[in-house]
Amino acid sequence: MHVLGIETSCDETSIAILDYRVSRQPNLKALTVSSQTKLHARWGGVVPELAARRHTEAIIPLLQKTLVEAHLLPQDIDLIAVTTGPGLITALQVGVETAKALSLAWHIPIQSVNHISGHLVSPFLTKGAWRIANKVKYWPAVALVASGGHTELYLMKNITHAQLLGKTLDDAAGEAFDKVAKMLHLPYPGGPQVSRLAQKGNPLTFNFPRPLLKHKNLDFSFAGLKTAVLYTLQKTPRTHYESNSKMLSIRSVTKNSICASFQAATIEVLVSKTLRAVNQTGARLILVSGGVSANLELRQQFKNIVRKHKHLTLMLPELKYTGDNAAMIALAAAVKPKLQSWNSTQANANWELWT
Ligand code: KG4
Ligand code: ZN
Repeated sequence: MHVLGIETSCDETSIAILDYRVSRQPNLKALTVSSQTKLHARWGGVVPELAARRHTEAIIPLLQKTLVEAHLLPQDIDLIAVTTGPGLITALQVGVETAKALSLAWHIPIQSVNHISGHLVSPFLTKGAWRIANKVKYWPAVALVASGGHTELYLMKNITHAQLLGKTLDDAAGEAFDKVAKMLHLPYPGGPQVSRLAQKGNPLTFNFPRPLLKHKNLDFSFAGLKTAVLYTLQKTPRTHYESNSKMLSIRSVTKNSICASFQAATIEVLVSKTLRAVNQTGARLILVSGGVSANLELRQQFKNIVRKHKHLTLMLPELKYTGDNAAMIALAAAVKPKLQSWNSTQANANWELWT
């Protein structure tokens, strides 16, 4: 079955074609991604109206490119899988309306996909991962999704079934990275910038809070941590003027240590809460996904844990599948087919996976 995936929920336009058979590793025939990060960088965050316009410009050329790269024609496509939520409504609508038009014109069924269920299955796009998806002995799994808009823990009985265990009560982990980056005048998106500077800093310099770490529940909170970074910054002595900025700058060694200390606090909370979920549920598999799963330190810490606990298996998405992409959307639809007609498909910006 050839599944055409379409993703436009935030600032990445992406189209994929996935060849899916239950018994075999899904075969990604083509994946195209057009990132808007440069467009939004000057505003320090995603501007929904600009995002929608750029999706509109990008989506048809990407569709054509994806078909060419996959060496396929419209009549070879069996299903159109489109992200219908959660996300920015104006951005989602571009993908959804495109998918509906294609469904009508090509006479192909359509399926709504929740963006988070895409992230949840993203580790299984990697070669060799399918043997884990299909073997009962690896399940249940605890899945951590950490992105710019979401930080959640799920219990997964199998690849198609996710039950919410806990979620952030305020900011998402990626959002905290982005906000700390903004405080330090680092470009958007902040996650990769903060983690780059963190590599050069000392994580023990600042003892930032680990919110809700001691609480037995599996919820997260990052707003207080972000504020603690702000207060530290306000107290940090300024040494010189930064070039082409009127701001008095802090020493780069301090900047690096703020990044390292903030990252250490965030990762400690994410890893500890995931492990707590594993202990509470008896899960044998840990899945980590979402944009923040690109963080090398986070990946390393999870790898260290499974090295110590031999009964646990860890699955991380390849770096190219950590951010938003249509391959994961196509896979999420393929593993749980639920065909619709184009006229019953619509964007839902607030679609929560657990409702
Ligand atoms: O999944 P994603 O691409 O989009 C959403 O669904 O939100 O996640 C984007 C988020 C951004 O907040 C970005 O700063 C963060 O993932 N991110 C990172 C890293 N790379 C991306 N956060 C920490 N470390 C990274 N290396
Ligand atoms: Zn995402």
